[in-house]
Amino acid sequence: MFLEGSKAAMEDDTKHPGEALRIAVQKISNLPTIPVLAQEIIDTINNENADVRKLEDIVSRDPIISAKILSHANSALFGVSHATTTVAGAIARIGLNNVKNIALGVSMMTIFDSPRGAKVLDYERIFNHSLAVGATAEFIMRSLYPNSTEALFFDGILHDMGLLVLNRYFPELYSNVIIKNKTGIPLVDAEMQAMGFTHAQIGMWLAENWKLPDGIASTILNHHTPAMAAIGREKVAVIHLADFIISGNFFAVTRKSPNYMLDLAVSDILGLPDNKIEELTAKVTAYMISKGFEINRK
Ligand SMILES: [Fe+2]
Repeated sequence: MFLEGSKAAMEDDTKHPGEALRIAVQKISNLPTIPVLAQEIIDTINNENADVRKLEDIVSRDPIISAKILSHANSALFGVSHATTTVAGAIARIGLNNVKNIALGVSMMTIFDSPRGAKVLDYERIFNHSLAVGATAEFIMRSLYPNSTEALFFDGILHDMGLLVLNRYFPELYSNVIIKNKTGIPLVDAEMQAMGFTHAQIGMWLAENWKLPDGIASTILNHHTPAMAAIGREKVAVIHLADFIISGNFFAVTRKSPNYMLDLAVSDILGLPDNKIEELTAKVTAYMISKGFEINRK
């Protein structure tokens, strides 16, 4: 179902989301710094002389990241028929860019996977959701603009990073969000009601704290409200559409439906007639099913 976005509810439910966020993040006493591995990859990407071997060396040093990359290089999303067991094999199979993006995204997400303590959200579920949104966003971009060189995988992987921060640092507060969400209130609206700020806002705060590029911060902040993006609006709209499709049909971030609402501004931003959105949704869903993903049974 296509519904209006939740901007109005967000504006009504709290007059000072910035203040609520500021108070919340002050309570985070020891936020992890950007992982060394992620920083090394960023430095490698920025170095024009960077080569495949250097990236392979960096990634291979971390067994957890390597294992994640291999599992995703071998996943149905990349349509593989036999498994690869080395980082070099993964690079050959899914490309240097994909390996770089997965390594970056995974290294950033992994530090929020706390084995101890209360958790209200399922880390693995958010992880799989995020990778699927990244891959789907790239598929949508290629379908709409075959000549586009815009890379969306990284934005997709990180778009819900705020959920991981909340899960790790505010599990009790977030359990109130989940209770509201289970009554049918969309997740973002439930967050505004229970916390006074959203996972998108705290995600952007982290992106700024870690000095990630502005484009990523904009995607994270606006992935539920693409019309509000000041930069990269098309990219944000594609991430939003991918998020909507994956949340509704495949992997939502919560076990029960999060009642994800599509912001109809997507049509305007991407210059598409409304029926094109439905057509794209059907095409992406068929593509995912062809890759072996099971559609949600509601
Ligand atoms: Fe989200």
